[in-house]
Amino acid sequence: MLLRFTGRWAWLTALFVSAAGAQSIPERLAQCAACHGAEGVSAISGTPSLAGQPELFMENQLVLIREGVREVAPAMAAALNGVKDADIRALARHFAALKPPPPAGKPDAGTARRARELSRKAHCGSCHLPDFSGRDQIPRLAGQREEYLLEAMRAYRDNRRSGGDTIMAASLYGIADADLQVLARFLARLP
Ligand code: HEC
Ligand code: HEC
Repeated sequence: MLLRFTGRWAWLTALFVSAAGAQSIPERLAQCAACHGAEGVSAISGTPSLAGQPELFMENQLVLIREGVREVAPAMAAALNGVKDADIRALARHFAALKPPPPAGKPDAGTARRARELSRKAHCGSCHLPDFSGRDQIPRLAGQREEYLLEAMRAYRDNRRSGGDTIMAASLYGIADADLQVLARFLARLP
């Protein structure tokens, strides 16, 4: 397709292709910031905060997204066009080192009690850690956006998260929407 551009447009095409293929880390980070927030704290519904996420978790997700195994909004996938493995590591390192997002207020007592009961039964803390700060390939949940957490959990439970770890679908199997809402409300309010 590109080969059909000849004559006076050929140089322009070549310019765009090389510019798209060789973005620097600061150029990439400016794109990420437009959606995920300047300090990795998202202010956009449905877009997760990245600040303080474990490095390995982000590396894995970025590879899954780049390879199209985890399907996401086209604009998110486009931000990873042509990104090399070394750049993925640099992007993940950058966001992992940022201060985690502030909690969205405090959970009320009823929410906290029910969420802890659900979490104990499903052993959420044995993987995500008791304070839900995450580790290695397991994400931080504390302080994540509430509506993002809820949709992520629904997608795992209903086997809609493409490329998702089946262990998560198993953990949430049979948990009703109302209880997923309690979990999301609680987790978004943890420091
Ligand atoms: C157009 C907005 C947009 C841009 C630009 C964007 N993202 Fe995203 N990103 C999203 C959305 C929306 C999701 C959630 C996708 C989903 O689950 O469907 C996401 C998900 C992610 C995830 C998975 C997080 C998790 O908790 O599962 C990572 C990591 C990520 N983005 C990193 C980046 C990086 C690094 C950049 C810059 C190179 C970037 N994003 C650019 C919108 C964007
Ligand atoms: C056996 C370990 C394990 C258990 C138990 C577990 N998780 Fe997870 N969880 C994971 C892993 C690993 C991922 C990342 C999976 C992937 O790659 O899709 C994840 C991802 C998630 C995500 C997506 C976050 C994001 O940023 O995209 C949410 C939300 C979540 N878990 C909530 C929970 C809750 C709530 C429980 C308890 C009901 C739970 N998990 C139990 C291992 C676990």
